Amino acid sequence: MGTVAVLSRLPGTAVERLGRHHEVRYRDEDSAPPDAELPGLVEGADAVVATLGQRVDAALLDAAGPGLRVVANVAVGYDNVDLDACRQRGVTLTNTPGVLTDATADIAISLTLMVTRRLAEAERVVRSGQPWGWGMFQLLGSSVQGRTFGVLGPGAIGLATARRARAFGMDVLLHGRSEPDPDAVAELAAEVVGFEDLLARSDVLSVHTPLTAATRHLLDADALARMRPTAYLVNTARGPVVDETALVAALEAGRLAGAGLDVFEDEPAVHPGLLERDDVVLLPHVGSATLETRTAMADLAADNVVAVLDGRDPLTAVR
Ligand code: GLV
Ligand code: GLV
Repeated sequence: MGTVAVLSRLPGTAVERLGRHHEVRYRDEDSAPPDAELPGLVEGADAVVATLGQRVDAALLDAAGPGLRVVANVAVGYDNVDLDACRQRGVTLTNTPGVLTDATADIAISLTLMVTRRLAEAERVVRSGQPWGWGMFQLLGSSVQGRTFGVLGPGAIGLATARRARAFGMDVLLHGRSEPDPDAVAELAAEVVGFEDLLARSDVLSVHTPLTAATRHLLDADALARMRPTAYLVNTARGPVVDETALVAALEAGRLAGAGLDVFEDEPAVHPGLLERDDVVLLPHVGSATLETRTAMADLAADNVVAVLDGRDPLTAVR
């Protein structure tokens, strides 16, 4: 029996299942705990289950104490966690890859269609109460068929999004730090290109890289300037990969056709220059937000905790 601190509300039966093996301190609230509550929640815990709203830093790990063995992050990205601080204390970090791949790819392709076909803007027209009717020149967007879909970060989610783009008749370019899976490249009839080519040739550039020191502001003013003025930027990964101020400047100058964003540099704050533009689509970080997906993420986090506390290998450790 160990003690598991679950820092915020989880869907499904993950908490119940943890409770069959361990003592669970469950904070049944939808938001991350206030700082003042944290030490009491985690003190003496063998495992901590955290969500993206929770910063897992050295102070939290130290508040838990030397018995802490595993932090299970209920997300695939783990930029909210200080991985070095975990390593220094011998704490295993796990994430939830795989189970949210399709849900997130669905949102990336949704944003692609929404921004190229001006769907959010069109929806606002109907709700506005202004007169409207079929019009030859009303809300003309841009077709995706025959256009080029560029994937920055061809991991599981990037490739799943590329498969969808392909089904919509797009050509696929892939660029990332590591070589994409050759079978996927063949299946997608994709071209693996350098960063410069990705920028210069993509009609839609979709971001799927994790946020690291190397990818922070990878899409800065200089990179955005090398994209086509007719191109669209889509980001379902992490906001800070894009320099939001530079993005607003590029849109204002007509050097980019639009952007579809599910993530922001300083969430939940959104750059005011984005809020006022009709050529951007803004979603509140809903990439993995289906009940099925969130339940699978919670289950995988619980399975990771149970495995580590049993002395087995975690299913999905961050290495
Ligand atoms: C969501 O953004 C995740 O990393 O799971
Ligand atoms: C990792 O972020 C992935 O693409 O699954």
